[in-house]
Amino acid sequence: MNLLTVADLNNEEIDNLIERASALKERHRKGIPHTPLRGKTLGLIFEKSSTRTRVSFEVAMHHLGGNAVFISGKDSQIGRGEPIKDTSRVMSRYVDGIVIRTFGHEIIEEYARYSAVPVVNGLTDTHHPCQVLADVLTVVEKKGFYKGLKFCWIGDGNNMANSWIEAAMRLGFDLTLACPKGYAPDNAFLKKAKAEGASNIRVTENVEEAAKDADVLNTDVWASMGQEEESERRRGDFKGFQINSDVLKLAKKDAIVLHCLPAHRGEEISDEVMEGAHSAVWDEAENRLHIQKAILEWLLAEGGR
Ligand code: CP
Ligand code: NVA
Repeated sequence: MNLLTVADLNNEEIDNLIERASALKERHRKGIPHTPLRGKTLGLIFEKSSTRTRVSFEVAMHHLGGNAVFISGKDSQIGRGEPIKDTSRVMSRYVDGIVIRTFGHEIIEEYARYSAVPVVNGLTDTHHPCQVLADVLTVVEKKGFYKGLKFCWIGDGNNMANSWIEAAMRLGFDLTLACPKGYAPDNAFLKKAKAEGASNIRVTENVEEAAKDADVLNTDVWASMGQEEESERRRGDFKGFQINSDVLKLAKKDAIVLHCLPAHRGEEISDEVMEGAHSAVWDEAENRLHIQKAILEWLLAEGGR
């Protein structure tokens, strides 16, 4: 079993992970050790930068009694062109599970095809499932539930937006995405959601329409990793696609604001909102640890699945 996209999971599996993450969080708070992954090793192969994903996975393994080994793409033979299928088979002889952060999603798919151990997506150009699962956990903590809530996405139709579409498709909440012309999510994701019966996902170019009466406001950088040379053009194209106090006023009074981080204050989110009372971004970042503990326990512990 791998976790490459949110759509790899069904509704019940997502609910179970959320519930388990909350229980593990509580247990950790109380200082009760839980070490089902004693003797297990997680490999992390990262071809892009990371703070949260790397640290939260390494700490998750530590809490669960196992170890983590970090391999940076550029400092390993991957950076010198060793084929993915060879790396995957070799790593399977050393580690019990692997987290990959890379560029094209086809790279992680190829890695997974050759892997004898579970593969978890730590971000590709088109998906960021662990982040969105942590975000749903954050919503459940703050609101008590996700069903019937109105979610909005303001900004780029990027990897995060795609994973949110898949979450809305699986969990059935309302999601409106406001993206500038030319930056809507890939139609394939919207078509897939429609084909699976989701009628609750809408795309607009109007920020106000998306934010109106929203329970959860969500955004991400205008230029993702790998798009650095487009940053200047995007700064122009995304003007106005920002979560700020005016946009927040349109949402429900008790709305929460999410951002996967890192954030560019003054671009996709204002400093005032980021630091304000509606911001849930620090709990959201913490929840990467707890949801990933639930994921690792599920995928790697004996009898975990
Ligand atoms: N949100 C997130 O994945 O952060 P990092 O890039 O720091 O891992
Ligand atoms: N969309 C961003 C998310 C970073 C966590 C990126 O891919 O760079």
